[in-house]
Amino acid sequence: MGSTQVEFKNPATATILEAVKARRTYYALKGESPISDEAIQNIVETSVLHVPSSFNTQTSRVVLLLKEEHKKVWDITLAALEGLVAAGAVPREAFESSTKPKIESFRAAYGTVLFFVDYESLASIKEKFAIYADKFDPFALESNAMSQYLVWTALESEGLGANLQHYSPLIDEGIQKEWNIPASWKLDAQLVFGTPAGEPGEKAFAPLEDRFKVFGK
Ligand SMILES: Cc1cc2nc3c(=O)[nH]c(=O)nc-3n(C[C@H](O)[C@H](O)[C@H](O)COP(=O)(O)O)c2cc1C
Repeated sequence: MGSTQVEFKNPATATILEAVKARRTYYALKGESPISDEAIQNIVETSVLHVPSSFNTQTSRVVLLLKEEHKKVWDITLAALEGLVAAGAVPREAFESSTKPKIESFRAAYGTVLFFVDYESLASIKEKFAIYADKFDPFALESNAMSQYLVWTALESEGLGANLQHYSPLIDEGIQKEWNIPASWKLDAQLVFGTPAGEPGEKAFAPLEDRFKVFGK
């Protein structure tokens, strides 16, 4: 998939693109890691420091949770979902047969990275650049997505598997309480990771020619 064979000036370019192609969604994960916690932390910190943001606003906030702390995310999620079942908002049968095993599979992994956006930190820049005021929130989310993508790709490059989840706002209060997260941090995504216990599923690719154009080549 993609262009014909090309040669890059810098071999690192091919390496980056290979990591991009190798990143997949892994749902079957073990509570182990082939790399040290320090290496995982380094990947996450690099994303926080070096992923770009509009006007260099640096709106992303990230929490890395490992082992027992990671499991708490999924205990919080399960408890919140059980609350929905008790309230009659989610059918018990679907919860028992599908939702609960899924959450338990996330819990069985090694860690979770929580990605937040601090929208409140944009107040002064929205005033300063009023013409862009409505653009800053989506820009902040786009920047956060870049961090998610970098961490996902880098962890998998190190032999971990990961999947990206979205249980906000259901779990926001529980997460905020458990780790004393500042109220201005708005949870966006949860990246679950661990040693792969299976292969990713089949992936279909819509034709490149329907999705890409080049002019002036
Ligand atoms: C912005 C975004 C949101 C996603 N949200 C979820 C999610 O909530 N739950 C989930 O299981 N997968 C989620 N995914 C994973 C996609 O389903 C997956 O990336 C896609 O099917 C392509 O498969 P791949 O990751 O193996 O390349 C999300 C991916 C992206 C990029």
